[in-house]
Amino acid sequence: MNLKGRLISANALTVILPVVITVITAMAYIFVAGKLSDTEQVFRNTQEVARLTMELVGSENSVLRQYPEKIEDISFQKELQARMEILNGEVVVLQGENVLFSSRNLTAIDVVKLKKATVQFRGAQVDFGNQSYTVQMFDVSRGETGEGNKTTLYLLVPINPASFNTTNFLFFSGLVFLLSFIGANAISSYYFSLRILSPLHNLQKAAMEITLGNLDSEIVEEGDQEVRELCRDLERMRIQLKDSVHTQLRYEDNRKMLISSISHDLKTPVTSIKGYVEGLLDGIANSPEKKEKYLKTIYRKAEQVDTMIDDLLLYAKLDLNQIPFSFEKTNIKEFLYDGIQEIEPEMERNGIKVLFESELNTVQEIPLDRERMMRVIMNIIDNSRKYMDKTEGIITLSLRETYSSIIIEIKDNGSGIPEKDVTQIFERFYRSDTARSEIKGSGLGLAIAKQIVEGHEGRIWAVSRESKGTSVLISLPRGQ
Ligand SMILES: Nc1ncnc2c1ncn2[C@@H]1O[C@H](COP(=O)(O)OP(=O)(O)OP(=O)(O)O)[C@@H](O)[C@H]1O
Ligand SMILES: [Mg+2]
Repeated sequence: MNLKGRLISANALTVILPVVITVITAMAYIFVAGKLSDTEQVFRNTQEVARLTMELVGSENSVLRQYPEKIEDISFQKELQARMEILNGEVVVLQGENVLFSSRNLTAIDVVKLKKATVQFRGAQVDFGNQSYTVQMFDVSRGETGEGNKTTLYLLVPINPASFNTTNFLFFSGLVFLLSFIGANAISSYYFSLRILSPLHNLQKAAMEITLGNLDSEIVEEGDQEVRELCRDLERMRIQLKDSVHTQLRYEDNRKMLISSISHDLKTPVTSIKGYVEGLLDGIANSPEKKEKYLKTIYRKAEQVDTMIDDLLLYAKLDLNQIPFSFEKTNIKEFLYDGIQEIEPEMERNGIKVLFESELNTVQEIPLDRERMMRVIMNIIDNSRKYMDKTEGIITLSLRETYSSIIIEIKDNGSGIPEKDVTQIFERFYRSDTARSEIKGSGLGLAIAKQIVEGHEGRIWAVSRESKGTSVLISLPRGQ
């Protein structure tokens, strides 16, 4: 639910719920109170009226049978009134149309109503004001009197006894409303805090952590839609911040590493160039042959520095994605074959045989930046040559295909790479200990190869067994 919806429903809940509860409980109160008072009171009333009737006219010995004149006696009338009052009932004595006695004020209309009600049957019902009564009528005339002059006693028993206490009812309803109002408020506040305040509190804590530089604690999405969106945005921000800090650290690391490696790797040839030049200046190279040898060495060292700088520049550019790749659809088999043709003579001079195998069934054309991919192949083959320790060196290039890619494998039977180094040889400046001490290189060849292969959306990895040989594998996505 969103925040607006929740606020509206919380407000509605705090008003509607107490009202509904109050109405329901009030109805229940009325029902139960009515039921209780009805049944008990009606029973008691019936008993009392029956007893009174018995006393008054029930038998030959009853008061009014023996002394009908008592009905006109005011003290008798008051006594009857007192007994009926217990039932909230009324006593009326009529003589013809005249009211001899009445425990309540009767209008002429009331008298007519009363008489009319009892015309048909004795246990009739009459309404006075809001109150309904059952009426018991007794004829208590003395001797023979005309129909119009009969003395009649009426006992009125309330049908709906007025035991329903309005004050109690209002108090009860008020209390229920108040309690349910407090309850509804408590519930809505609890949910409000659960869904909004506590997630906000967590967010605040997370923001604090970020401010303090702790970018590792994940921000969990919770709460209402808006709060969740806020969490998501903050989490995205945290990840980006973490990435950028990470990248910055990596660059910083790179920079340090580059500076130390460059200075170290460049220093070695430059120092020896300096040495040879000094030798020339001091006249140590005193014969033309010696001079030529010195100059050739200087030239070789200068070339070494040159390639190293080229490699470095290339690597730096690739790393910063500065030079765009130019892809061309290329027949991969021909491409590799041509490459091998070029290097074969040089390899043969080093006593290394180069073999080429293709398992491709059809002509495969894939998009390649030919110049750079050739650089990759050459870097790998150059390693196989450099780290070859067998007298009969063999380098095998093979070509395979899978459903989605073309795999180039360059396998040699050279020195192999120690297991601990295999995964690291694609890192820049990484060289295994033996290579570092014995063979020249800057440790950029495979790092450059990796950058280029990844620029082709491909993957490069190596499998090696020490003293047995190494396989470097490249997988390139097949063109559409
Ligand atoms: N075919 C291989 N046989 C044995 N070791 C290898 C082979 N290829 C790579 N290595 C190891 O991996 C390291 C990294 O190779 P990489 O080509 O990146 O650098 P390098 O050859 O030392 O220097 P550069 O290629 O820049 O002249 C090498 O120093 C070597 O220890
Ligand atoms: Mg190399």
